[in-house]
Amino acid sequence: MLIFSGSSNKNLAKKIAESIDGKFGGLEIHTFPDRENRVRVEEDVLDLDVLVVESTGVTPNLYYMELFLILDSLKRSGARSITLVIPYLGYQRQDHIFRSGEAVSLQVIIDILESLGVDKFISFEFHSVKIPEFFKSEVVELSAIPRFAEKIKEMNLQDYVLVSPDMGGIARVKKLSEILGGPDFITVEKDRDLNTGDVKSMKFTGKVKKIAIIIDDVISTGKTLIAASNLLKENGAQDIYVMATHGIFAGEAPTSLQASSIKKVIITDTIDVPKIRRFEKLEVISISDMISEELKNS
Ligand code: R5P
Repeated sequence: MLIFSGSSNKNLAKKIAESIDGKFGGLEIHTFPDRENRVRVEEDVLDLDVLVVESTGVTPNLYYMELFLILDSLKRSGARSITLVIPYLGYQRQDHIFRSGEAVSLQVIIDILESLGVDKFISFEFHSVKIPEFFKSEVVELSAIPRFAEKIKEMNLQDYVLVSPDMGGIARVKKLSEILGGPDFITVEKDRDLNTGDVKSMKFTGKVKKIAIIIDDVISTGKTLIAASNLLKENGAQDIYVMATHGIFAGEAPTSLQASSIKKVIITDTIDVPKIRRFEKLEVISISDMISEELKNS
C-alpha cells in the first residue's frame, strides 16, 4: 500500500510502513514565508487505495490544514480510496454545545475530512463514547487499554487501585479492571470552569490505596492529573502512576508533571513527543503494531 505521511508523526508512520511492508509516496510540502502551505503529490495515485498518516497534538490547526491539502491533492490526482490513520483526532473536546452560541468543532473537522474524500478513519481512544456517531464514513476506534493492562501486569504491583480522573473516564477504567481480573477502581469528580478550562474542584468516591494508577485518554496541560494526584496523595496514596493514551503536553506540562507527586507518566506514541519535550518520568509505549494489525485485517 502507498503511504503518505504528514509532518506530525513521521516516526509512527515509519513503524507502520515497516510492519505492513508499505511504501512511502512522495509529497512536496512547501511553506511560504507567511506560513501558508502548498502540497503536491509526487506519485501516480490514479485508481490506487492510499493510506494517509497524520495526527494532531500541540499545533492542531497547522496539522489539520496540512492534512486537508494532502487529502485534496490525493483526491484530485485520482486516488480510488483514502484510509486516514489519525491516531489522535484533535478538537474532540468541543463535541457538543456546552454554552449557547458555541461551535461544535469536532463536527466541523469530521465534515471537512469526509468532504475531502476520506473513506475510512482509524483512530485511538476517543474522548467520549458518542464520538463514532459523528462520522458518516467507516470509523475504527482502537484502544490502548489492553496495552496498559499488559504494562500493569509487567510492573508486578502488589495492591493497587485504578482511578478515573473524571466521570467521562469510568468506562475506560472499568474495562481495564475487567482485563486485569477486577482490581478496585475509584472515580474523581472534576468540576471545570467552562470559561477558562481550569479545574475548580475535585472530590472522589471510593477507597484510596498506597498505589494508585490514574487512567486518562489525554494529557494536555497536565492540570487534571496533577490535581487528581494531589487529592490521592492527601488521602493516603504513596506511589501514583499515570497512564494516558495521548500525550499532548501543552505549555508547561512537561515541567509541571516532572515536578509533581506523580511517580511515572506512561503514554503511547499516538502523538509524537519531541525529545526536547520529554521528561525523566515519561515512558512511551508504541501502539504502531495495533494500527498495522487493523490495516492487515481490513
Ligand atoms: C477531560 O475530560 C480529559 O479526559 C482529560 O482529563 C483532560 O482533557 C486533560 O486536560 P489537562 O491535561 O489540560 O487537564
